[in-house]
Amino acid sequence: MSRLQGKVAIVTGAASGFGKGIAAKFIGEGARVIIADLSADAGQAAAAELGDNCAFLQGDVTKAADWQALLQLATDKFGGLDIVINNAGATYANKPTMQVTEKEFDLVFNVNVRSVYQSTEVLVPYFLDNKRPGVFIQVASTAGLRPRGGLTWYNASKAAVINGTKSMAVEFGPNNIRFNCVSPVVGSTGMTHLFLGKADTEENRAGFVSTIPLGRPSTPADVANACCYLASEEAAFITGVNIEVDGGRCV
Ligand SMILES: NC(=O)c1ccc[n+]([C@@H]2O[C@H](COP(=O)([O-])OP(=O)(O)OC[C@H]3O[C@@H](n4cnc5c(N)ncnc54)[C@H](O)[C@@H]3O)[C@@H](O)[C@H]2O)c1
Repeated sequence: MSRLQGKVAIVTGAASGFGKGIAAKFIGEGARVIIADLSADAGQAAAAELGDNCAFLQGDVTKAADWQALLQLATDKFGGLDIVINNAGATYANKPTMQVTEKEFDLVFNVNVRSVYQSTEVLVPYFLDNKRPGVFIQVASTAGLRPRGGLTWYNASKAAVINGTKSMAVEFGPNNIRFNCVSPVVGSTGMTHLFLGKADTEENRAGFVSTIPLGRPSTPADVANACCYLASEEAAFITGVNIEVDGGRCV
């Protein structure tokens, strides 16, 4: 029996990077997955690659109407919804805090934090009204626990996600809606070059990785494995945790 057999999941930001890895793992474990992403071309390509148990909807995770459309697609096409992975994220390029513009601050808080708010505003009532168990997993970051310089408001946005997730775990535990986070250390995705604060060279990436005891960056498979556990029945009694997928970085 596959670990997510019969489950339906929305994975945001799954046109690439960690999200695409999560979508692939979930489908491999028997789930049907809706990829939600701003990028139509990459999203369609990812869904085509992942096969019939994957659908794509272009959307912006900061907009309530786009979450409504995702819920509609999940119920129309796959008969319901069980799992929500808030993975889409944004950052500005690493820089001194005094140089961060209002626009950059708003982007980071909208995509990283408001998205979680909007997802719960739209989807928690669905789980409550249908008396259906639900699982929310937020892809936060080690940045929310052990911040690196030059990323102040990205770090703060991820800390907000971790804290808000724990609050909701307490509030909705009695309704059997579980809320957890997964916090990856630096990986090799579309966002990585923005974290460095230096030229994107092998040497500078190696400097980042040198602070990780297990000696390598995180991969989409590492992140997907943690999400799969949290989404599965194996984690039926797990809520309000933040799993660091970080090779020991946060110790
Ligand atoms: N890459 C890292 O080193 C790293 C480390 C820790 C945490 N994270 C987190 O992992 C998550 C995934 O990022 P990634 O590293 O795979 O980067 P990525 O750039 O490969 O993927 C991010 C995806 O989110 C989509 N997206 C951005 N804004 C959106 C919006 N408003 N609505 C819908 N989709 C949107 C992008 O189009 C992209 O496909 C993010 O939350 C990021 O903060 C990344």
